[in-house]
Amino acid sequence: MSNLNAIKISDSVYWVGAIDWNIRYFHGYSTKKGTTYNAFLVMADKITLIDGVKKGFEDELLERVASVVDPQKIDYIVSNHAEPDHSGGIPKIAEIVKPEKIFASKGGVRALAAYYPELPVEAVADGGELSLGNKTLKFMETKMLHWPDSMFSYLAEEEVLFSQDAFGMHLATSERFDDELPWSLLVDMSTGYYANIITLYSPFVQNLLKKVAASGLTFKVVAPDHGPVWRNMDNFAEMLKYYDKWSARKTDKKAVIVYDSMWHSTEKMARCIEDGLVSQGIKVKSLFLQSCDRSEVATEMLDASAVIAGAPTINNEIFPSMSDVMCYIKGLKFKTPFGAAFGSYGWSGESVKYLSQMLADMGCEVIGSIKSLYVPSEEVKKQCFELGKEIGEKINNKN
Ligand code: FEO
Repeated sequence: MSNLNAIKISDSVYWVGAIDWNIRYFHGYSTKKGTTYNAFLVMADKITLIDGVKKGFEDELLERVASVVDPQKIDYIVSNHAEPDHSGGIPKIAEIVKPEKIFASKGGVRALAAYYPELPVEAVADGGELSLGNKTLKFMETKMLHWPDSMFSYLAEEEVLFSQDAFGMHLATSERFDDELPWSLLVDMSTGYYANIITLYSPFVQNLLKKVAASGLTFKVVAPDHGPVWRNMDNFAEMLKYYDKWSARKTDKKAVIVYDSMWHSTEKMARCIEDGLVSQGIKVKSLFLQSCDRSEVATEMLDASAVIAGAPTINNEIFPSMSDVMCYIKGLKFKTPFGAAFGSYGWSGESVKYLSQMLADMGCEVIGSIKSLYVPSEEVKKQCFELGKEIGEKINNKN
């Protein structure tokens, strides 16, 4: 008897994934609530496994499969996405299951060949179909969402979309479905996931949303590779609105102040800028890097109209934690309209100049920059307040 069980998600489809309660670091992204590696078993004439799990979680997947069917009866494996959190377990699973065939997109064939040269993988075409006997899988490439190989699979007879990373979230739960979890949690976790993983590819999201709408496909279940399975389509429709907003780069009357501080001087400046923004009715997220990390900064940046970056100068350079964050958010290509820089210094004071240049490189209109020698004087504090106020006015005029 199997220890771990599959969960039925539609007439012939079972969730057979793994729950990773303990992961806290996912290639640079903080996964404070763990994650799941979702895989799905389609009990058609040709029994098919959609996606795998991360290496080390193969036994969990196989146990869940065994609660439905002998794993060796699996005929096909479909890899929708080659990133190792989904493909890492496939070599071991394939060795045990001995599937007749393994399928992936053309890009997937290339990526899987690089990771697992021993694995025979056949390419399926964008728009192509695979007969499972009494069921049919349709494929839709979703290139750069978020890898070149990414694709969706769609089980036509049951209107189940296997969406790999899209519409997922890093959230380990015992609940398997969206409607078993609070909506606010789903939004929060989806926001962080989108901000950190998908923001850069937002133009592709806009195109994909149009492509899916034009396809006329309808969904009863949307099954991503992380987090809960969407079976309440009202919830999913609301989530699509968020994806549309995020990918269209719509911003709110909100500012992010992100900074680090050595001896609280830059911190004092941050608080005065915050006060100036608040005086204009702007929502402010003040993020001190000694109590938050780059993933939280990216998450808050998603709908912010301004980013105000602060760092002391150390060794003629920006304080390292701020260099890390600026590099990260620059890479994600947020479209933040306004920026400003501030920081304290003792003798050379290059950090504010460098931060200003980084903000300009990110496409922000740099509204101002303020340096403080050692400790902010009353005059500097007033300048900080005025800078916050000016940015607040700009945000109000824009939104
Ligand atoms: Fe969940 Fe892009 O891997």
